[in-house]
Amino acid sequence: MNADSLRARPVEALTEEEAAEELAALAREIAHHDHAYYVLDAPEITDAEYDALVRRNAAIEARFPELVREDSPSRRPGGEPAEQFGKVRHGVPMLSLDNVFNAADFEDFCARIRRFLGLPADERLCFVAEPKIDGLSVNLVYEEGRFVRGATRGDGTEGEDVTANLRTLRDLPQRMKGSGHPARIEIRGEVFMEKAEFLAFNAQQAERVAAGAKGVRVFANPRNAAAGSLRQLDPRITAQRPLKFFAYGMGAASERPAETHWSYLERLRDWGFPVNPLSRRIEDEREAEAFQREMADRRASLPYDIDGVVYKLDRLDWQDRLGFVGRAPRWAIAWKFPAEQATTKLLRIEIQVGRTGALTPRAVMEPVNVGGVIVQHASLHNEDEIARKDVRVGDTVILQRAGDVIPQIVGVVLEKRPKDAKPFVFPDRCPACGSHAVRPEGEVVRRCTGGLTCPAQAVERLIHFCSRNAMDIEGLGAENIQKLYDEGLVRSPADIFRLARHADRMRSWEGWGAKTKKGAEAKKVANLLAAIEARRRVPLERFIFALGIRRIGEANAKLLARHYHSFANWRARMIEATKKGSEAREELEGIQGIGPAIAAELEAFFSEPRNLEALDDLAREVTPEDAPAYGDGDSPVAGKTIVFTGTLETMTRDEAEHLAERLGAKVTKSVSKRTDFVVVGADAGSKAKKAAELGVRTLSEEEWRKMAGLA
Ligand code: IVH
Repeated sequence: MNADSLRARPVEALTEEEAAEELAALAREIAHHDHAYYVLDAPEITDAEYDALVRRNAAIEARFPELVREDSPSRRPGGEPAEQFGKVRHGVPMLSLDNVFNAADFEDFCARIRRFLGLPADERLCFVAEPKIDGLSVNLVYEEGRFVRGATRGDGTEGEDVTANLRTLRDLPQRMKGSGHPARIEIRGEVFMEKAEFLAFNAQQAERVAAGAKGVRVFANPRNAAAGSLRQLDPRITAQRPLKFFAYGMGAASERPAETHWSYLERLRDWGFPVNPLSRRIEDEREAEAFQREMADRRASLPYDIDGVVYKLDRLDWQDRLGFVGRAPRWAIAWKFPAEQATTKLLRIEIQVGRTGALTPRAVMEPVNVGGVIVQHASLHNEDEIARKDVRVGDTVILQRAGDVIPQIVGVVLEKRPKDAKPFVFPDRCPACGSHAVRPEGEVVRRCTGGLTCPAQAVERLIHFCSRNAMDIEGLGAENIQKLYDEGLVRSPADIFRLARHADRMRSWEGWGAKTKKGAEAKKVANLLAAIEARRRVPLERFIFALGIRRIGEANAKLLARHYHSFANWRARMIEATKKGSEAREELEGIQGIGPAIAAELEAFFSEPRNLEALDDLAREVTPEDAPAYGDGDSPVAGKTIVFTGTLETMTRDEAEHLAERLGAKVTKSVSKRTDFVVVGADAGSKAKKAAELGVRTLSEEEWRKMAGLA
């Protein structure tokens, strides 16, 4: 899992820099899983794991609202249309639902509605309850009562045009019956497969796979089977699949066909749409709990899987007023059922290495059906968890899915334990690269220390290495690095500086300058190589930061650079400091802002011979420039404390701050009596005012440039 070094930490403990880093990683990771789920129909993680990523993203954004990214997952409901189908823009976005798991949370949901609408605390709300079938939602456009277009949800804004496939569903009227159809209306509902149909269909698929049929697959659950069937390029295949449909919602409409959701469902029935007969009007929110119980009891005997009940506020005018927040409406909620359990045999425990080096154990079990989903893998989280549960290979384990699909091992059936079962021994070497895997004191996660050389982490490390605040190699973003890695040209940071040897090969790649004679593409390789050459000399602090040593963010890299001054000195002192209790270790831990936990990470890095090799290899290609100490040098700003505020015209704030530091100044973010200068750019706010109040000298951009020796 990406950025798990950070993710193991509570959001409250993150610095701004770490938060930004983690948000970037989350955006990438969630986009990846969205693609796997929505486009490929092949999810790699459970819904609960996915939800955990989305929640973590939301929690960090809530704490650092200024860091919310353009491409933040909270701004998109996820997924993007597959390329083969045409794209269709929904008249009104298709959203998803927030979840609750108990009556107290449902009551909170009702209270939020009352608060938002300004209703008295004792006013009871009327809902429509609908079983939540786990299928896929579709948007159907009807014009003058005729079905004209149908699309999947896609990313919520734009879906795939699957009109031809939807026409093969018998449940779905090609023409609306009855009367009073709006001239144009988007009708929404769920396409799904019944349990028995799914099992029969899947058995048939399995036979075909066994017989060697190409492009045939077995599906993990009815939802994936329904999605796969609806997204067939040939509608004749869809026609053979047992797909069903229930209508439950409305998108854009030329006129409103009803005042309440319940009466809208009645109209849908009149118009010939199948509406789930189990849907019920709940006059008083307090009846929801009883309905929830009733549905939970009936669940096993229903022909289709449901994972909860959706409650929608009945009054449509209130729905309008409540609107949406993020991905979900304020007027509806999914109340999910509690976990389901099953037992199966643990075949082995695999260790996976995440992109930041975390070793995560994964249970591989005999496949078993847990509440309608076939499960054969479960995360065991970490080595303590294995020890605590004393899970052993050969054990019969109790598996549980909570709410959606979280396969979790909740315990072991001890009576069934084989006599020769032995406690699991967690490896102390990385299974991907063989480096030492260490577990810092007080932490739960064991990590590979071969960061620079471990194949499981290489791409992530290289992306960090080249990133703007690290080596800042223009043109070497994630995509190009992945390509260079996949082609085998770059395995370690030093390889980047040897790319010139492979220029011809790079130019032969599509999009890298192969076929065009002129234009940007033709120059891509030349530009890239020039950008690399330009970074053969970098400030020591950037160099240290670029190594991606855990906990060595920009601020700590700077402390180290300032303290140790030169690369050779830093390297030598770090090697000495790997010995606990040594004088070098004491010195390191004594640096203001460093301390034992960070020292332990440096120890882990410098104790691994593979890292030293990679580091020395890199140092043969790159020259880290000696760092100035505070107050060094003869610039008028040396030794001074400077604050920048407002927008500068001739350089970015980042550049100005780096320049000031190179000249020996100390840059801080807030103005105090100890501040020597405040450099005031355009639109400066409170900091300029504060400077005036405290009598701190302010400098214009022009004056600053003079002082810095630029003008
Ligand atoms: S309403 C704005 N009603 O659940 C409200 N969704 O988690 C959007 N689903 O994408 C959805 N049964 O695939 C709604 N009776 C129901 C539903 C239902 C199943 C699914 C649907 C949606 C997902 C949201």
